[in-house]
Amino acid sequence: MTKISQLDANDGRAELMTDEDVIARIFDHIDNGTTDRGQSSWKEPAVNYQSVDRLDAELALLRHRWIVFCPSSTLEKSGDYIARDAAGIPLIVVRGSDGEVRAFRNACRHRGVQVAKDEGCTSVFVCPYHGWSYGTDGSLRSVPNGDGFPGLEKETRGLVRVDCLEQAGLIFVRQNAGADRSESVPDMPDLIPDSFRVVKSEAMEIEANWKLHLESALEGYHIRSTHQTTFFPVQYDNLTVVEAFGENSRIAFPYQAIERLRGRPKTDWSANGRITYVYHLFPNVIISTFPDCMQVVVIEPLGLERTRQHMFLLTDCAEGGEVLEAVFKGQEFAAKGAIEDRDVVMSAQRGLKSGANDFLEFGLFESAIGRFHTVLKREIEIPAF
Ligand code: FES
Ligand SMILES: [Fe+2]
Repeated sequence: MTKISQLDANDGRAELMTDEDVIARIFDHIDNGTTDRGQSSWKEPAVNYQSVDRLDAELALLRHRWIVFCPSSTLEKSGDYIARDAAGIPLIVVRGSDGEVRAFRNACRHRGVQVAKDEGCTSVFVCPYHGWSYGTDGSLRSVPNGDGFPGLEKETRGLVRVDCLEQAGLIFVRQNAGADRSESVPDMPDLIPDSFRVVKSEAMEIEANWKLHLESALEGYHIRSTHQTTFFPVQYDNLTVVEAFGENSRIAFPYQAIERLRGRPKTDWSANGRITYVYHLFPNVIISTFPDCMQVVVIEPLGLERTRQHMFLLTDCAEGGEVLEAVFKGQEFAAKGAIEDRDVVMSAQRGLKSGANDFLEFGLFESAIGRFHTVLKREIEIPAF
């Protein structure tokens, strides 16, 4: 597959700005009542949220690429595993006794039943149907009453492998590589500090198309209207710094507490507690930074109007229990804002069905969304993935 490393829509930067530069730009915007703007607005046809063919193409794209499955620290010990669907396909991702993380199609090689569900730690996966068992390396270990399967070649009937790698503190899977045999994920900065560990994970379903849900994270134009009593009192309405890196974007949402940095030496200008960075890892992952913690959110399309999000909360556990308490409190606050987002997203889904709009228009302040659709369109149109 042809890789798009830089888009026309990009403003030319290949690398992310430093905190210092982002903060200086935010001060400029505060002083001038401005925000970052894209070069043009984007009109996304409504049919792209409603067409089964389009969703199928998007799912095929998700299966074809390296996509984030979970943070590395979710599977810390040998035998730790997560079993869940990715792009509609049941997978198991497990850390083996050799420390390597492997991914498999979660389907027994007898008659296809899932051999693991949810998450846990094990040295063996036993199929609940007839008891075939598999090691964490996927090998078929035992078959009850094996004499009923004359000629069964155990070495060819292990769980079916899926490409899997760890990079930048994240575990990626690729189900169907096609022509793309790349061994690493391009354009991936180290987003997760080494000391950060997953301290909470949860899944949530949303009655809306996955792209409507994603879009709500990629602009600050809705802060005042949607988050009147949550984010608006502590942030700014429609004040963001938007950057592109590779196919991905980063949007900086400042807190009003950033004002305290004025007059301080630039060496003190840290984003922690002053800016929430939202990284959109194309196509379906959002990583957000909050004071002393971060969230990794994997967005899983379940159908045209149904989406599941998997959220992983990470923090620096070396800092001890007090930080953890503050982090959970902060997360409760963020969760209130997330409910407000979910409400407008589900409402937008109903609005799509009303037939009022032939297209959804994303303005100059919503340029990260226009960019997302630009990349998605181009990637989907690449033949033979
Ligand atoms: S389907 Fe798994 S043992 Fe029969
Ligand atoms: Fe929001």
